Amino acid sequence: MDHFEYRDGEFHAEEVPIVRIAAEVGTPFFCYSTATLTRHYRVFADAVKDLNATVCYAVKSNSNIAVIATLAELGAGTDVVSAGELKRAIVAGVPAAKIVFSGVGKTAEEMAEALRAGIRQINVESEPELAVLSEVASSLGIEIATAVRINPDVDARTHKKITTGKSENKFGIELSLARQVYNRSADLPGIKLSGVAIHIGSQLTELDPFREAYSRLAEFVLTLREDGHAIEHVDLGGGLGITYGDEQAPTPKQYGDMVTSIVGGLDCHVTFEPGRIITGNAGLLVTRVIYVKDGVERRFCIVDGAMNDLIRPTLYDAHHEIVPVREAAANAELAEIDVVGPICESGDYLALGRALPAVAAGDLLAVRTAGAYAAVMSSTYNSRPLAPEVLVNGDQMAVVRKRMSVDQMINLESLPAWLGSVSGAASEIGA
Ligand code: LLP
Repeated sequence: MDHFEYRDGEFHAEEVPIVRIAAEVGTPFFCYSTATLTRHYRVFADAVKDLNATVCYAVKSNSNIAVIATLAELGAGTDVVSAGELKRAIVAGVPAAKIVFSGVGKTAEEMAEALRAGIRQINVESEPELAVLSEVASSLGIEIATAVRINPDVDARTHKKITTGKSENKFGIELSLARQVYNRSADLPGIKLSGVAIHIGSQLTELDPFREAYSRLAEFVLTLREDGHAIEHVDLGGGLGITYGDEQAPTPKQYGDMVTSIVGGLDCHVTFEPGRIITGNAGLLVTRVIYVKDGVERRFCIVDGAMNDLIRPTLYDAHHEIVPVREAAANAELAEIDVVGPICESGDYLALGRALPAVAAGDLLAVRTAGAYAAVMSSTYNSRPLAPEVLVNGDQMAVVRKRMSVDQMINLESLPAWLGSVSGAASEIGA
């Protein structure tokens, strides 16, 4: 459920008409709903309330500091995967004691920053990483709660680019090797090897792969305890899928009940790292039609949003609903059209063969379910500045990321001395 709907024929984010935001910030832009973020966080937290649990929102799905702060106010911790995300979480007011640091390639510098900030836990994905963490932590005189991410070799049955729990994936340590890793590493200084972590993929629309993976994890915790390790916490990752089109995803309650039945008896603190389920349906990408072009075989709706703003359709064959901001008549005829951006690539589309009511240049379209893995994955390809982000709360709106300017983009660049003769042109724009 989300808080984007038509009111009197105009698409609204909560009580704010989208057309008003477009007039203020221009297009394309991202728009997020506080009520939707709040609802999704609460539903998830409620679903796992019978466990001793911390919900650590996966910042990678939407790292705007206003989004993080909205969730932090509700009590969320965060899962971060880089020094950049760590900084964002801290700036947004997340207590360090609720920050978990995951990721397959943390550098010693990133670890040191996280340890100095006093974060709760680090999830480690290889033996060499354990060795580096031990060195960094002991040189800082810190002992950090550490979990090893295991790879259970379970097929998450999701898109191949977002499957992470098969043994051919780069993530975690395979179960068959992990026991020895714990035994070899238990005495490493600076590390309290007290947890086990897992994350098998994203946008899972079935419970079975989770059930299988979590059961293997629970069994592994018992094995580790038999080996003498004091395992006190498990981190179950994220991955719960959402509805983009017609897929049926399990509800947070069904997920929570399943988890509780598997790990409830382990006497462990449980961390969850949900991303998409919190932010996915809480965002739109709003774009304006530039041209409608009739080809021999297809019709194209050329819009000012593009693959640099939302790469999911072309990268994962993802479906995102698209609705006109001004509601079409109930009996409006639908015709198939490709909604494409201005970028010079055939892969630059937001939807192919989509049945839409008649569209014309100047119309606004809202691309739905663009709260997760949209703005965060955007780029400046074709020198298109990053789109602004707007957060709505009831009848209020705030620009929470300004539109980048072309000059800001160019100002990071400079001409080397040997191209001095053209540097006048560069200095004219302030480079
Ligand atoms: N924890 C870890 C260790 C992760 O790698 C991820 C996502 C999450 C939690 C959050 O997963 P979620 O609850 O959001 O499914 N760009 C792709 C998704 C990549 C997910 C990467 N890891 C997409 O647009 O579908």
